[in-house]
Amino acid sequence: MAAPQIFAIANQKGGVGKTTTAINLATALAAVGEKVLLIDLDPQGNASTGLGVGRNERSPGSYEFLLGLNPLGECVRSSQIPGLEVMPASVQLAGAEIELIDMDDREHRLDQALNSPGGEARQRWNIILIDCPPSLGLVTLNALVSVDAVLVPLQAEFLALEGIGALGNTIERVKKRLNPKLHIAGVVLTMVDRRMTLSQQVEADVRGHYGELVFGTTIPRNVRIAEAPSHGMPVLIYDNACAGSQAYILLASEFIRRRRTIAEKAEQKAPHEPAS
Ligand SMILES: Nc1ncnc2c1ncn2[C@@H]1O[C@H](COP(=O)(O)OP(=O)(O)O)[C@@H](O)[C@H]1O
Ligand SMILES: [Mg+2]
Repeated sequence: MAAPQIFAIANQKGGVGKTTTAINLATALAAVGEKVLLIDLDPQGNASTGLGVGRNERSPGSYEFLLGLNPLGECVRSSQIPGLEVMPASVQLAGAEIELIDMDDREHRLDQALNSPGGEARQRWNIILIDCPPSLGLVTLNALVSVDAVLVPLQAEFLALEGIGALGNTIERVKKRLNPKLHIAGVVLTMVDRRMTLSQQVEADVRGHYGELVFGTTIPRNVRIAEAPSHGMPVLIYDNACAGSQAYILLASEFIRRRRTIAEKAEQKAPHEPAS
């Protein structure tokens, strides 16, 4: 396995920090020189808002790309962060859930667009993050079929693990039938309040359940993180020194180390593997 390059940020629960993690991980990665694309796949368009893409600038975007209506280049915008581009989501994307049902290859539309022969997307960016909607419907399924791996944000609260079994089952089914390389690349604990016993218990539970998959870095509950989107900027730009920004910088370096380890393992194995 080469280093995973395309990641879905998924959890069917809303409000667990998917979009915040997508925006700030993407920003931190771009800041250290990676070429990054963030695909907003949620019709609410929170990632587009958080990166300052106005409502009337969102088409063509992920809806058109998913349905193959416009080529990649037309669906992407630059952001205020050098090295970070965004594929915005318009409200039309809400209709895709229904429109896809009757289409051929309905689970493969994004895969076909993103991993098309010639691999334009994989050549143009080192890392592509897909911010998924809070459901396990056809749009999320399209993401899971097209990515190398999944990042799962979990909010450190009562019942954090409830419902996560459904995501695990979906990932297993997609892996078996549609995308053999799919795996969970990491679990990120968000909105952690270490002063609270409950938060500590949840963290211990999640680490007990997912073991090494859980990133050592946790994201604290931080008011600057919540304020940043209304200014149309990542918290890393809004207040680079706050605890939330510092946590996302640490998360990004841990993320980079994990990718490097996977790539090194693949290289060590490569000489013994038959050429494919
Ligand atoms: N670490 C955090 N501290 C404080 N507020 C946060 C934090 N992470 C996310 N939020 C806020 O919580 C809400 C939900 O987060 P969001 O990333 O949009 O979740 P999702 O994409 O999973 O629905 C947003 O208003 C966001 O600004
Ligand atoms: Mg979101």
